[in-house]
Amino acid sequence: MPRLVRSTKVGIVNFVHVNEVGPRDGIQNTNAVLSVSERFELIRSLEKSGIQSIEIGSFVSPKAVPSMSGTDKLFKRLSNKNNYSVLVPNLKGFNLAQENNVEEICLVLCVTDSMNKKNINKTVEESTIEFKKIIDESNRNNIRTKCYISVAFYCPYEGKVDNGYVVELTNTIISYGVDEIVIADTIGQANPSEVKELFKKLARSNNTDQFSAHFHDTKALGLSNVFASLEEGIRKFDSCIGGLGGCPFAPGSTGNLATEDLVGMMEMMNIDTGIDIDSLLQSRELASKMTSLELIGRMY
Ligand code: HMG
Ligand code: MG
Repeated sequence: MPRLVRSTKVGIVNFVHVNEVGPRDGIQNTNAVLSVSERFELIRSLEKSGIQSIEIGSFVSPKAVPSMSGTDKLFKRLSNKNNYSVLVPNLKGFNLAQENNVEEICLVLCVTDSMNKKNINKTVEESTIEFKKIIDESNRNNIRTKCYISVAFYCPYEGKVDNGYVVELTNTIISYGVDEIVIADTIGQANPSEVKELFKKLARSNNTDQFSAHFHDTKALGLSNVFASLEEGIRKFDSCIGGLGGCPFAPGSTGNLATEDLVGMMEMMNIDTGIDIDSLLQSRELASKMTSLELIGRMY
């Protein structure tokens, strides 16, 4: 297989960190509610391919997202605790994470009031105040924190989002002492120019190591947006096995960038991810069987 020539603009990239979000983002939006045992089996299969960072589920209202109930039981059964993160939307979710000795939490802040209200029933300001308390408490207890900056480019209710405002809000969360910011294109509408522009602006006052990117592949621009991010120094990406996923509260949100597509492109570019693509494709098969969904990943 001929190797693609690496762009000089990307420079020397030896390694890209892949964070698998399938067990949370991939499964939360499917009608097929997987059992805890099935979720466990999927995570074990992903780990066999070499993935070392997995968002395994969320502590959210079981009425809002039934498919995520049992995340506490799932976490207890898993062995490599420091490889897992869990999404928490509020203080109650954080308390559950602490009770279960979760080592990394993912907060989620949608940057528009309309979307944040739909997702977690709070305004941006209300969530920000609560997240400051959660980040403070996490830092006191050595819990690692990430915060999703969701609908960072386009909101399904308010349209295009001003990137100056996104930078301001992101900097506010960074000032609280969060460990990582995940810039998320929730409904998969961003293009590579917009991605570059936002990361360029964020890099003016921050180290790019603090950021990762989370793309949904609605318009098949996920990989282009990864490349644009690589050019701006981003080295950590979320993806989802098979390209499953989407936020149940964001109309138009389709699947995430598929992990096999991300890993496949990195392999073609000679960038290591530590993940074995053949073994990853077995996880894809498993995810397809479990959900009975047609998957969007193309690299199989
Ligand atoms: P609410 O109704 O405002 O909450 O919902 P509340 O405080 O009034 O409580 C209502 C009930 O929920 C109570 O139970 C609480 O105990 C319970 P009841 O008395 O009725 O039996 N409750 C909880 N239970 C479990 N865990 C919790 C929790 N909090 C309250 N943490 C709430 C607010 C946040 C709970 C609700 O809106 C919710 O669960 N939303 C789920 C949001 C979600 O999971 N969205 C998808 C993930 S975000 C995403 O996909 C985007 C991302 O991928 C990045 C991107 O692409 O942009 C991350
Ligand atoms: Mg998402």
